[in-house]
Amino acid sequence: MTRYIVTGGAGFIGSAVIRRLLSLTNYQVLNLDKLTYAGNLESLAGAHAKPNYKFVQGDICDRALLNRIFHEFKPDVVMHLAAESHVDRSIDGPDDFIETNIVGTYTLLQAARDYWDKLPPSRKSDFRFHHISTDEVYGDLGRDEPPFTEQHPYEPSSPYSASKASSDHLVRAWYRTYGMPVLISNCSNNYGPYQFPEKLIPLMVLNALHNRPLPVYGKGDNIRDWLYVEDHAHALCKIACDGRPGETYNIGGRAERTNLQVVNTICTHLDNLQPRSTGSYSQLITFVRDRPGHDQRYAINDRKIHDELGWRPQENFETGLRKTVMWYLNNREWVNHVNSGEYRDWLKVNYENRPKLTGKSQSS
Ligand code: NAD
Ligand code: TYD
Repeated sequence: MTRYIVTGGAGFIGSAVIRRLLSLTNYQVLNLDKLTYAGNLESLAGAHAKPNYKFVQGDICDRALLNRIFHEFKPDVVMHLAAESHVDRSIDGPDDFIETNIVGTYTLLQAARDYWDKLPPSRKSDFRFHHISTDEVYGDLGRDEPPFTEQHPYEPSSPYSASKASSDHLVRAWYRTYGMPVLISNCSNNYGPYQFPEKLIPLMVLNALHNRPLPVYGKGDNIRDWLYVEDHAHALCKIACDGRPGETYNIGGRAERTNLQVVNTICTHLDNLQPRSTGSYSQLITFVRDRPGHDQRYAINDRKIHDELGWRPQENFETGLRKTVMWYLNNREWVNHVNSGEYRDWLKVNYENRPKLTGKSQSS
């Protein structure tokens, strides 16, 4: 099991998975990413020089490209992370979410099945299609309800979570109907280095550093369960290797916090690490109109992945959040390029003079 296709590998979690695979193994890794606004090859700066890493810029909705990639690369494992991932954007414009998350997953499943069908029996049973999903498919959890288990009914609230729920159903159907060896994981909110600053934690850190308001939706009492991204990457690699085909694994951080607690903790870290002359960063907290359909709480019961695969998060939220705040303070170039849009030039700068392989693909 040494040839991995990772879709969405230029995103926040996908890049953590690729950094992990490249640092701990000598597997062949092919990163297929469309490079939407959320894709940033600067998050994989160390990968491009590795002979066992290849980047292909392309869309998971492009069936002809997928066929070529499967045919030429001959993967043992597909880790599917490519998605539109931001709830607020899905509320403003659901089209891309339907297209990438549903149609794209369907197209990838069909290309994978076509390839898998023709594999010799031993490689056929070893093949894995790992679909990376979210706890948001389960919908809103009451304050006193027990955390989500893998049996929790699906009740998505937003266009984003509904599109992810649809893709989970498709993946499960490809197992049941065609027998393709799939795995599904549903994870809670991630945080850590290289996250695009539209999501709560990096947005608050960077707004604070620019003395901008810290916009907390509603009363700030919505609860999320936070997981450090490297712990998620670890869990995903374990599931891809050792998970049982057809199974779902919930992944969580054992760190439920209200949004206001999260923002206040960020302010405390910043007050210590880079004090502001005019007083605490918490003075910048501003309550703004709530997100429509805003889920009150998500929480994960991670017993299955712990008991079956021996995984549990290594990072605790307070130290992980401090590390994350420090990462944004110490990586101003990455941040400045994201803010200025310069990160989108990376492709040109890094790949202009390199040989081209399949279609629009580019490799080092
Ligand atoms: P992200 O938005 O940071 O990255 C998504 C990546 O997918 C980007 O690199 C983008 O260019 C690429 N992409 C988008 N559309 C594409 C297409 N049509 N074809 C090919 N590539 C395309 O997302 P993330 O936070 O890294 O999330 C990765 C996956 O994990 C998603 O499936 C998401 O639903 C899931 N997830 C995320 C979280 C979280 O907290 N961020 C939690 C649980 C699950
Ligand atoms: P987000 O990072 O967008 O993740 P998700 O919606 O997938 O959980 O948001 C996390 C929580 O923070 C969510 O309850 C919405 C809230 N939030 C704010 O209060 N202000 C903001 O500016 C953002 C982006 C999110």
